Amino acid sequence: MRREICILVPLLLLLPPVCGQVSRLRPNVTFHKYLMNWTQAQLYCRENHTDLVTIRNETENLDKFHGWIGLYRENTSSDWKWSRGDVIATYFPWKKDHPKDGENCAFTKEDGKQWLATKCESHNQFMCYEENLVLVKENETWEDALMHCRTLEAVDQSKPATDYQNHRYDLATLLTVDDLTFAQETAQEAPHEVWTGLRYLAGQWVWVGGEPGPPKNINSCPTQRFCGILRKNGSLDIRDCMQKRFFLCYKKPSS
Ligand SMILES: *[C@@H]1O[C@H](CO)[C@@H](O)[C@H](O)[C@H]1NC(C)=O
Ligand SMILES: *[C@@H]1O[C@H](CO)[C@@H](O)[C@H](O)[C@H]1NC(C)=O
Ligand SMILES: *[C@@H]1O[C@H](CO)[C@@H](O)[C@H](O)[C@H]1NC(C)=O
Ligand SMILES: *[C@@H]1O[C@H](CO)[C@@H](O)[C@H](O)[C@H]1NC(C)=O
Ligand SMILES: *[C@@H]1O[C@H](CO)[C@@H](O)[C@H](O)[C@H]1NC(C)=O
Ligand SMILES: *[C@@H]1O[C@H](CO)[C@@H](O)[C@H](O)[C@H]1NC(C)=O
Ligand SMILES: *[C@@H]1O[C@H](CO)[C@@H](O)[C@H](O)[C@H]1NC(C)=O
Repeated sequence: MRREICILVPLLLLLPPVCGQVSRLRPNVTFHKYLMNWTQAQLYCRENHTDLVTIRNETENLDKFHGWIGLYRENTSSDWKWSRGDVIATYFPWKKDHPKDGENCAFTKEDGKQWLATKCESHNQFMCYEENLVLVKENETWEDALMHCRTLEAVDQSKPATDYQNHRYDLATLLTVDDLTFAQETAQEAPHEVWTGLRYLAGQWVWVGGEPGPPKNINSCPTQRFCGILRKNGSLDIRDCMQKRFFLCYKKPSS
């Protein structure tokens, strides 16, 4: 009985205010009504958001999408790729008779989840998405990972991202149940556990953003392990900060 209580308490403390809340770390899609050719739309998305949308499978393929998506090919004989990271595409719900030769950019229509191809110089509305959680695939110590996140993108481009508060990203703070779920999904691409923004400071666990850390479900009196990781199974634990790991950066809430 006692054992069960010990396990339940931290979970209950973590859950109540946040049940059912969709994580702000999940990518959000924005729809743009300007008519642009595919390259202009890509430039617009890259400058003002993250990129043109990537749709990897049926789950991600929503009815509400219409306009250019991030799918393109160089020519009729090359692979279809996603604008984001030039990742080779594997899921293609093409409309019947698509794509045709010489039609190298893809778009969707409002009335369904099917994709169509057309010439990249055509003008179309488009959809951008915003990436709020990034897995950095480099092995770094916790401190180096923190600096790496903070230098990803400056708020004021004319100043260094390392300037006080002038950074858009930080090591990831995971506050809600869905934050953890989405972080876990994102971490599956890492070989092992990944660094998070959890740190033991002045006798307590805190996230780098200043929020209190998860209550008691990790060691409350560490002796030499002061930095928090997320396992691929979704649980948090602590490690020696000098170890090297891949890490999660998140877009800080705009305050
Ligand atoms: C996308 O999500 C981020 C993080 O929650 C937020 O800052 C941003 O305003 C959102 N963008 C749109 C267009 O909703
Ligand atoms: C970014 O958005 C602004 C405001 O909508 C627009 O004026 C600008 O042209 C966009 N950037 C690009 C590269 O299209
Ligand atoms: C769709 O892709 C996302 C991201 O890779 C993954 O989390 C999800 O499980 C996939 N869904 C299906 C039905 O394959
Ligand atoms: C098609 O594009 C590929 C690169 O994706 C290039 O290597 C190839 O030479 C191109 N073929 C033609 C016919 O232009
Ligand atoms: C899109 O428009 C821009 C500006 O008008 C032009 O430079 C570019 O070549 C066009 N791209 C395509 C694929 O037509
Ligand atoms: C990172 O470290 C892990 C284990 O320490 C190793 O398996 C992996 O190959 C390394 N990856 C890179 C990109 O250095
Ligand atoms: C995840 O793995 C760790 C270490 O193997 C284990 O202690 C923990 O109970 C697991 N958590 C879950 C939610 O499966």
